[in-house]
Parts: sequence; structure tokens; C-alpha cells
Amino acid sequence: MILTHCLLAISDMQSALNPAGEQGGSIAKLWWIYFWVLTVIFILVAIFLFLAMLPRRSREPAGQSDQPSQSRERSIATVVIGAVIASIVVLFVLLLIDFFAVRSIYALNDQNTADADPLTIKITGHQWWWQVEYENESEPSKAMTTANELHVPIGRPVKLTLQSSDVIHSFWVPNIHGKKDLVPGHPTEMWLKATQPGTFRGQCAEFCGLQHAHMRLTFIAETTQAFEQWMQSSSSDAPQPTTDTQQRGLQVFMSNQCMMCHTINGTNARATVGPDLTHIGSRDMLAAGSIPNTRGYLAGWIANPQNINPGVRMPPNTLPSDDLNALLDYLESLK
Ligand code: CUA
Repeated sequence: MILTHCLLAISDMQSALNPAGEQGGSIAKLWWIYFWVLTVIFILVAIFLFLAMLPRRSREPAGQSDQPSQSRERSIATVVIGAVIASIVVLFVLLLIDFFAVRSIYALNDQNTADADPLTIKITGHQWWWQVEYENESEPSKAMTTANELHVPIGRPVKLTLQSSDVIHSFWVPNIHGKKDLVPGHPTEMWLKATQPGTFRGQCAEFCGLQHAHMRLTFIAETTQAFEQWMQSSSSDAPQPTTDTQQRGLQVFMSNQCMMCHTINGTNARATVGPDLTHIGSRDMLAAGSIPNTRGYLAGWIANPQNINPGVRMPPNTLPSDDLNALLDYLESLK
């Protein structure tokens, strides 16, 4: 699993250099300008350093003073002053480029704000998971909550309203946009627009406690049609149990501590301490992107989450194996 994470980290799925959003594109352009300018400067400095190390043929006759001659001193002063001026000019030009890159992102925000049909998504950072709520102003009943997974349609401006329920987190999907801190008590917002379809990995970018490194999210940019389909299936209530074991699994869920923390729409489980599980069966990953959503990992997570993410807020659950199997059957059916 460690290998998978390493590969993910260096892959295009989580890389500011493979932009898939308008704002991410501006940031990547800025990065490349800095990269090439600084590479040229590095090479020049290395060349001059190398030349300075070469043995120098002395023009002064041997035995005379160690002091350089006046003309030599003048030429050294000219070179130093020239280098200082060049450094100031280069730094100033980089500052200007940086300024205009930020301006272009603000200009995109203004365009997006003026758009008639933005999508508003509320993101809440928790230790250690992301709550994702799709608001629906015209039909509040169609508001939908999920966790650690963000679907957005390509080409449509998205307004994220960001807040934290405990400590400072930072929302960051490198392919799409820069970072934004989530400071408790100070809700903030961020505009983004995905330009290319794909699945990208986000990561909390502010140290927020023991499981900070495992506070990830999956960002899925998809066509409007695929997004609408996902929205429709995700806004519906959880499917009813269709087999006896699933039915028993639901009872296990309701009669144990599961329902004290989680919501499953369409049942009596309405708690909001932990992630909404209404459609947990359709998610790729569990535990804020720590483990794949397979039966084995889900069983291990339910039995003792502390083994997987030490310090996580979910307590262990000692269930008889029949109950655990029934619960797994039920949770897997929640597509
Ligand atoms: Cu949340 Cu780091």
C-alpha cells in the first residue's frame, strides 16, 4: 500500500504540473516560468563559479603587493554592481509575473461569479475527513451530503465554501487550484473550474494532528451528463435491504454504536459526527483515501480503525463474525 501511495504522489493524479483546471493552469504556467528563469540563472552562476576557480595568470610582476591594481579593482566593482542590478531586475520581473498570475486568477473568479449557473459545494474539514455538501437553492430537499469525494462537471464554475469544525486544515487539489486554509470560525470561499475529465487526488495541506497525512480526497471531473447521473443516484435515499443478511446488517447498524455517529438517508440513522454512509458502497476509497473500499479493508476498519489510522475518532467495534458479515453485506449494498 505504501508503494501505491508513493506512485500516486508522483503520478499525474496529484500534480500541480498536470493542470486540469483553469486556475491550476495559471499556477502551472507561473511555475514553469520560474523554473526556466531560475535554471538559466543557476547555470550562469555555476559557469562563473567554475571560471573563478580556474588558476589566474597574474599580470603583476612577482614579489609586488597582493593588492589588485586600480584598473582591476575598477573592473571588479563594475562586475559586482552589474550583477546586483541584474539580480534586482530579475527579481522585480519575477515579482511582476507573480502579480499578474494572481491577477489572472482573480479575473477568472470575477468571470465565474458573473456566471448564471455556478455549482455551490460546501466543504467542511474534520479531524480527519472531508464533509462534502451539495447545496440546492431552488430545491433544498435535493441537497446532498457525501464524504471525501468531490464530483464536479467540466466547464462549469464551482464555488466552494470552506470551513473547519475543529482545527486548521487546508484544502488542496494540486491539478485544479492552489491551497486554501480552513480556519475554524472563519468560513472562506474558492472558485474553480475543471477543464479536463479525470480523477485527481486532493490532500489536506496544513498539519492538523495525527492523521493529517491521511486526510485525502478524491476529485472527479466529469461530463455534465455523468455528473447529473451521479447527482441523481447520490441524492436518493439508501437502497432498501434486498436479502435477509442485508436486513440483518441494517439491524446490526441500528443496534450498535454505528448509528450514534453516521447518517444513512432513508433509515433512522441521522447522526453527523462521522461521514455520511448513504452511498458508501459507490465510493472508491475509505477513511479519507487511506484504504481501498473493499470488503476486507472495510471489515478491518470497522473492527479496529485504530490499527489503520491510529488516533482516528472512530472507536473499535467488537462484533460477532456473523453480525460483522451481515453488516458488510448491508454496507456494500449501499450504492
Ligand atoms: Cu487536515 Cu491536515
